[in-house]
Amino acid sequence: MKATLLVRNIGELATPTGTSARAGSDMRGVSVIHDAVIAVDGETIAWVGPATEAPAIEGAPPKILDAGGQAAIPGFIDSHTHLVFGGYREDEFYWRAAGVPYMEIHERGGGIANSVRATREASLDDMISSGAKRLQRMLELGVTTVEGKSGYGLDLDTEIRQLEAMRTLATVQPVDIVPTYLGAHSVPEEYKGSPGDYIDYMIDTVLPLIRQRKLATFCDIFCERGVFEIEDSRRFLIAAREAGFRLKMHADEIERIGGAGLAAELRATSADHLLKASIDDLDAMAEAGVVATCLPLTAFSLREPYANARAMIDRGLAVALATDLNPGSCYSHSIPLTAALAALYMRMSIEEILTALTLNGAAAIGLANDRGSIEPGKLADILLLDAPSYRHLAYHVGMNIVSTVIKRGTVANARP
Ligand code: NIG
Ligand code: FE
Repeated sequence: MKATLLVRNIGELATPTGTSARAGSDMRGVSVIHDAVIAVDGETIAWVGPATEAPAIEGAPPKILDAGGQAAIPGFIDSHTHLVFGGYREDEFYWRAAGVPYMEIHERGGGIANSVRATREASLDDMISSGAKRLQRMLELGVTTVEGKSGYGLDLDTEIRQLEAMRTLATVQPVDIVPTYLGAHSVPEEYKGSPGDYIDYMIDTVLPLIRQRKLATFCDIFCERGVFEIEDSRRFLIAAREAGFRLKMHADEIERIGGAGLAAELRATSADHLLKASIDDLDAMAEAGVVATCLPLTAFSLREPYANARAMIDRGLAVALATDLNPGSCYSHSIPLTAALAALYMRMSIEEILTALTLNGAAAIGLANDRGSIEPGKLADILLLDAPSYRHLAYHVGMNIVSTVIKRGTVANARP
């Protein structure tokens, strides 16, 4: 076997396995190896197993990384973020803390529109430098691949600038970025009262351009009462699919309007939020193989009841967990708090949480074939934990226990 990096003396290696989302009770099926070794060749994993069975290395001697008995898990995949934006909305946080509902702020012209104003004023360089800082913080928490949405420009220039910022960011720092066009995040001022006309504009003008320039893999929509209703969402998503995009949805977050059912009907890759989704719609998602992405930091920040991840898993859905980092409803990229909330308030087991943050996150962005688990042939995106077991993940509530981040076979971050 050839290797460029040998990670040895891993006290406990824990990983889901496979190249597609794990659903239902399969989410618990984490493989655990004690005293493990990982051999990396270039950017990919060459071999994983117990030290006693490690094959001999041929050719040039590899770099050695002694894990000193620490646990190893796959790099986290944050499959839902809005990481490029201008400005902040700290005032709104305090209004919400005092009891003003999120949608009331939105209807008064605050909320997303507020970030749209600031983002339209942000230059490409502003977006790249603030984005790079956020990505560095995410990397420190063990995020090795992130999905990032546009949606704070709504006009052509700013949406494209957000997507271009992500394209540049992907080349100047280690975290891989999967870009999503979220022009259907809100109806812009220019189209106030005419969501249908705005949808026509996106379909006729924006989608072809973004597709042609390969600026986004996914299209997403905020399918919500008073934003984009079901009929407009269906029309937009069908057009996006026909233009060659894969689909995501912000579905049934604030009100139950059947977004989860639409995601199933259109076989979206994922439907996200789902706080108010009906059981029938969730069953339809399970049947259609749509990943259910739960965003507990948003429910926490909005003081809404958490998505019913327990029922989702018990009914056979594949659940992913992500942060939803954005300047409004959830200004946090805390994977540690996400894990703790999932354990304490969504009644997910630690094995389910690990799968939801890795392999199922990868599936939610269409990348479970090459990442999301520690297996030969997959990208060498690996975390070492400052703990003897993966079971410390949610237990050390809200704290970062990631000590070393290996991204594509190279140590990308290490804590002293
Ligand atoms: O995922 N719900 C819609 N979009 C974001 C929030 C956007 C914002 O408030 O800026 C979300 O929660
Ligand atoms: Fe979101």
